[in-house]
Amino acid sequence: MKTLIKNGHIVTAADDYKGDILIEGEKIIAIGENLDNTEGVDKIIDAEGKLVFPGGIDPHVHLEMPFMGTFSSDTYETGTRAALHGGTTMVIDFILQKQGHSLYSALEEWSGRATGNAVGDYSFHMAVTDFNDQTKAEIESLVEKEGITSFKMFMAYRGALMIDDRQMNGLMQEVRRVGGMVTAHATNGDMIDYLIAKHRSEGKLTPVYHYLSQPEITEGEASHRFTDFGFYNQCPIYIVHMTCEGAVNAIRQATFRNQKVFGETCIQYLILDASLYEKPDFEGAKWVMSPPLREKKDQSHLWAAINQGIIEVVATDHCPFFWEQKLMGKDDFSKIPNGHPAIENRMELLYTEGVGKGKITLNKYVEVTSTNAAKIFGMYPRKGTIAVGSDADIVIFDPNKEHVLSAKTHHMNVDYSGYEGWPLKGKVETVLLRGQVAIDNGDCLVGRGYGQFIKRGKVSDKI
Ligand code: URP
Ligand code: ZN
Ligand code: ZN
Repeated sequence: MKTLIKNGHIVTAADDYKGDILIEGEKIIAIGENLDNTEGVDKIIDAEGKLVFPGGIDPHVHLEMPFMGTFSSDTYETGTRAALHGGTTMVIDFILQKQGHSLYSALEEWSGRATGNAVGDYSFHMAVTDFNDQTKAEIESLVEKEGITSFKMFMAYRGALMIDDRQMNGLMQEVRRVGGMVTAHATNGDMIDYLIAKHRSEGKLTPVYHYLSQPEITEGEASHRFTDFGFYNQCPIYIVHMTCEGAVNAIRQATFRNQKVFGETCIQYLILDASLYEKPDFEGAKWVMSPPLREKKDQSHLWAAINQGIIEVVATDHCPFFWEQKLMGKDDFSKIPNGHPAIENRMELLYTEGVGKGKITLNKYVEVTSTNAAKIFGMYPRKGTIAVGSDADIVIFDPNKEHVLSAKTHHMNVDYSGYEGWPLKGKVETVLLRGQVAIDNGDCLVGRGYGQFIKRGKVSDKI
């Protein structure tokens, strides 16, 4: 199968030019001006007036994740399909090791849910929630045989996911030895647990106390501790879902010593703020996530950090729950399942709020939505760019189309939107995944099982 995309305005992390893209099978085989030889071409797509981006990569999602007594509501099928609708062709999900069990048993569980079900491409990070001699012995094989090269540590959620400083250092030593990356949910779990208990004992039980139990300092402190441990162990590290000035400062300080440290924020932290927690009638629960939304001043720090190269990735931390699931915490904020839906909205929201409002350039947009994640997580240049030899994962984007986000029209398996009524300028029109037209004007043309597990390489020197 040969497809020719004509006359598009092609944007990569480095370039910005008008051209045609020729695709054969799953790969891009030629790029140029006026590729007029249409011999053997089965399909021509006219991209005149459209932007042409590499497929989005969201390296922080939670699909069908067992969490806080329930499961996040998007399956691999519904979640990756919704991602495709929004221009994200690949996601990286988190396997959660069960404490007391092996890493491989968790891999088996997660693969069982994903294999044959994903519509878009995917990979896994491995969250090590119990680092010991047995789990240490599994890490090399995960990197070498399975292509799972990033390992997450939770510095919060004691009793379920959190590891202590001793285990963190042990994990960093081992991951560094085998050429991987350590990522962290960097917040101080014990301080948060103290504040949750304090608020509950005072009868302060509404969603705003979720926010007040995780002040900025809980994130700043853990981010500094994590970067210090990374430096000591000479281990490449990545902080997930950064929300605030304190976390940005931790990375900025680490870069002064030329440390290999990367930062991720999520679309919600750039455009939403903590005033939402004060909405009446429990509505604030829609945005109960960890870390919580912050202040307007933090948004400014995050945008600046993107432009300064301190934050390389804008992800989602997509972790949806139906309203009925959120109601588990109606009488106690600490029981509200943490997370919100965004996998489908990231690319269009960031375009509208970032490029459209002059906060980031088109090249920066491609960097933070696709290219940097591919580089950091060992998939570049197969993924994350438009180049000869790369997978033909391509988004054709109408920069002028105006529309509005709503739970009535989204494809995520959740009955509310954290962005209901949000006006957008710019819309994903056509999406190709490995050469196949996956989305065309709102229709999904690939089925369950089309999505492939992508084995990843070791931490590269390309970034
Ligand atoms: O609220 C969140 N973020 N839920 C998912 C788990 C996590 O901490 O990333
Ligand atoms: Zn987290
Ligand atoms: Zn997460």
